[in-house]
Amino acid sequence: MLLKITDLKKQFNGQQILNGIDLSINKGEVVVIIGPSGSGKTTLLRNLNFLEQADSGLMEFAGEKINLAQATKSEIQMVRRKTAMVFQNYNLFKNKTAQENIAEGLIYGHGENAKTANQKAVQALKNLGLDKRKDYYPSQLSGGQQQRIGIARATVLNPEIILFDEPTSALDPELVGTVLKDIQQLAEQGQTMIVVTHQMWFARNVASRVLFFADGEIIESGTPVQIFEHPQKQRTKQFLNALADNY
Ligand SMILES: Nc1ncnc2c1ncn2[C@@H]1O[C@H](COP(=O)(O)OP(=O)(O)OP(=O)(O)O)[C@@H](O)[C@H]1O
Ligand SMILES: [Mg+2]
Repeated sequence: MLLKITDLKKQFNGQQILNGIDLSINKGEVVVIIGPSGSGKTTLLRNLNFLEQADSGLMEFAGEKINLAQATKSEIQMVRRKTAMVFQNYNLFKNKTAQENIAEGLIYGHGENAKTANQKAVQALKNLGLDKRKDYYPSQLSGGQQQRIGIARATVLNPEIILFDEPTSALDPELVGTVLKDIQQLAEQGQTMIVVTHQMWFARNVASRVLFFADGEIIESGTPVQIFEHPQKQRTKQFLNALADNY
């Protein structure tokens, strides 16, 4: 097992947002989280790499046991070095080029020298067919290109796990496919990942496991067939029916 979370809890302003999350992930697994808006999906991802600090809970990661509420600086640094996050709004540095955005984490997060970091950045852009855009700033790139650079920025770090938070929800419909194909390709190469998405075809086709999340809890978890064809819980059925009504 690569990552195990036990009884993670988080409140904001006295309101319980995460209600005791238990989650285990094996190497190479693609865990897709679906669920209603406001249920705590983003908060969960942010707690996993300490963008927020949990009120309580335990993390076992890469052989270390970490008390989430009392994690030390070095524990937080270890987790951050072995994870990467891809955000809904790309979060690229606006005053840095595509290449610089990708090289940045290698230089400042992983202590690589600038030359190697830039070589890796250029190679990553070539792999995406975006090498002609290496000197472009985010404002000169389409949303799809920016997000693909966001993904390249995560993958060059060679993380144990990539956390994707609705990576395509800010994109025009015709760009969603290209970005999800990049993510699917990473999954097929064995990259461990947690993906929060509203794209149900991605959940059906790429997930090794789907978690249905609502009201700060994992309501139900299973294979795509179990969750989409044979949901057991009323709350899951209700969510899937509401989605079906929108099509
Ligand atoms: N920093 C914060 N301070 C206070 N409340 C917060 C904070 N971050 C999130 N919340 C609250 O936590 C709840 C869960 O938010 P979260 O963003 O995790 O939901 P989500 O499932 O990702 O929703 P969506 O699908 O819309 O992205 C919301 O009620 C939100 O208002
Ligand atoms: Mg969210």
